[in-house]
Amino acid sequence: MTVIRHADEPAANAERESVMRLEPRSLRTFTPTQAVIAKSAGTFHWTPDGRRLYDFSSGVLVSNLGHNPTRWTEKFFGYMGWSVTLPNSEYFEAMPQTAYNAITPLEAEANRRLVTMLKRCPGGNRLESVLWAASGSEAIQKALWAAMARDKTRPMILATRFGFHGKKGLSCAVTGSETDAERDPRVKFISFPMAECRDVSKRNEPFDPAPYCKELDALWHQYGARLGCLITEPYLGGGGSYHPPKAYLQALQQFCREKDLVFILDEVQANFGRTGKMFAFEAYGLEPDLVVLGKGLGNGVPVAAVVGRADIFNSLDYGETSDTWSANPISSAAVLATLDEFESRDVLGAMQEPSRIIEAGLVRLKKLPCVAAVRGEAGGMVWGVEFQDHAGKTGPEWANAFVLAAYRGNGKDGVHLLGPLSKKVVRVAPPLTITVDEAKHSMDLLERAAAGMA
Ligand SMILES: Cc1ncc(COP(=O)(O)O)c(C=O)c1O
Repeated sequence: MTVIRHADEPAANAERESVMRLEPRSLRTFTPTQAVIAKSAGTFHWTPDGRRLYDFSSGVLVSNLGHNPTRWTEKFFGYMGWSVTLPNSEYFEAMPQTAYNAITPLEAEANRRLVTMLKRCPGGNRLESVLWAASGSEAIQKALWAAMARDKTRPMILATRFGFHGKKGLSCAVTGSETDAERDPRVKFISFPMAECRDVSKRNEPFDPAPYCKELDALWHQYGARLGCLITEPYLGGGGSYHPPKAYLQALQQFCREKDLVFILDEVQANFGRTGKMFAFEAYGLEPDLVVLGKGLGNGVPVAAVVGRADIFNSLDYGETSDTWSANPISSAAVLATLDEFESRDVLGAMQEPSRIIEAGLVRLKKLPCVAAVRGEAGGMVWGVEFQDHAGKTGPEWANAFVLAAYRGNGKDGVHLLGPLSKKVVRVAPPLTITVDEAKHSMDLLERAAAGMA
């Protein structure tokens, strides 16, 4: 087992060795820094050796409100009925930590508040019932189960090629493309306009959805009403941060309406502000039948959900989507605390200036011959920086070198990034709450790191 070590990091190296001795490497995706985090607050992590890192991953787009936000934590504890000073007794009365199969008022409130928020957003009309899950991939699985149960004569699924929906079960079956090993024969893939959104400079170029509509028609011609649903991400996240023209997604939705397919939008990554709107269906002018939420929904507490048409969910019977963790009180409390934060202050308005600063800094990186493209949404808080072959080094080598150089930063401060997506795309996704000064300083660190790469 190769353990990553860094000079001048004795404390972190000891933790790396200890963990890698007792865990398989498959638990992590490769990141050349293998950062060890001792504590975190807001936009920052601190390493056990005392360095400060700007967190440009937000976990993996989870800590949208930053790490350990005080108001969020107060609310979370409040909903749970926990106090910081605990009574001097063996047990105390509060929300149960788990309530399998029973109902708690927290769950009821989380349902009401989530549906109210979604319905208030343009395009949220169909979002009327909540099917909870513990992770994004489980929620995707449940969304597909529900869509397939609606009409058992229509078991086939359309998915957009090179999407990422998870690694387990049906979420894996709709991920990637038909060339991946052991495909589920029920899943058919359609092209995603990657070339048309390869770089931010293409954002306002005209787009013709006609070739994609033709592809959909051909699939309908071949499989007809055996096709029962279509699943897509609003933008390809894990596939390398490709943010498509609105007309593409609207054409997919239109096809679903015409042929009566369930339109499933996977917002596990995009939800709660990453596109600059609270939900991506709003940013892209869509009205999904089912929307899948996760990651930022609990700001760090594991929780996910499918929200959508009750008539679709009602095709499933007692127990068909039940499991140990779904709708547990701790996740309901976390969802409520997250909704409180987004409803009580203008998180998205405040992120506009940092978003502009970060995007401008990333676009400046394109001056480097190893940087091929920068992708993202205007006013959003997630970008991909694509590296290319140059000077005898490959795109993946440059991408990994960039992640390492950013981590090293100026010695004292650095920037925490994850290993590249699709081998050569480095994702930039700080918490939405990053301040203007933090955005300026972190971009300065990133630009210097990039300029100093050998
Ligand atoms: C768009 C999208 N869908 C689904 C998932 C799977 O979520 P989880 O890792 O919580 O199972 C992810 C995770 O990265 C994602 O980005």
